[in-house]
Amino acid sequence: MNKYLLFFIIGSIIAGISVSCSQSPATVTTKEPDYRRIGDSIIKATFDTLRHTLGASIQRDGVEGAVQFCNVNAYPITATLASENILIRRVANRYRNPQNAPDSTDAVQWNVFATAKAAGDSLQPAIVRENDRVHYYKPIILQANCTVCHGTNGKDISPAVASTIDSLYPNDNAKDFAVGDLRGMWKISFLQANH
Ligand code: HEC
Repeated sequence: MNKYLLFFIIGSIIAGISVSCSQSPATVTTKEPDYRRIGDSIIKATFDTLRHTLGASIQRDGVEGAVQFCNVNAYPITATLASENILIRRVANRYRNPQNAPDSTDAVQWNVFATAKAAGDSLQPAIVRENDRVHYYKPIILQANCTVCHGTNGKDISPAVASTIDSLYPNDNAKDFAVGDLRGMWKISFLQANH
């Protein structure tokens, strides 16, 4: 991910917010930021970074050495993009890191995705409002290259990787996923610019 593009994204967000703050109420047709578009850019940027860092780490250190690289919060990109105004998280019902457990708002959206998935429907990203925050949720579907760490012990996960995971995450809940499963969801939370 190009750093300048990141700054551009952040700049656009800030510009959008300050424009809506500086106009007088009489003349404003308050235009809300396009949370979906911004959310998608942030998710893409974060995922690209994650993917590249993870891939490089697997090549260098093997899958077991790369285990800690799936931590979204470990990346400078999150620090760059996340701010007081934007939070980037991944949430999962069956989580590896307890910090990624759903809260009550997340649980509602999780059910929407899980129900659609069970019915064989397509999963639509969603905007959910909560007090002064706007959350953008997007499903994360398990892919073939994820099973080395989220699949089944013995079949997909080697003994060495399993023991690394167990030592770092003694209460791991994030194994036994199959390709195509709903693995988690991105949650990009924006502080609403309505003042
Ligand atoms: C090298 C091992 C490894 C690979 C490969 C991997 N993950 Fe993970 N994944 C982890 C670890 C370790 C965590 C816990 C990270 C943390 O502490 O936040 C995790 C956490 C997650 C989470 C956050 C929820 C949770 O369980 O805590 C999601 C969602 C996730 N992974 C999805 C994926 C997807 C999708 C892929 C494939 C594109 C993938 N992972 C590939 C090791 C891996």
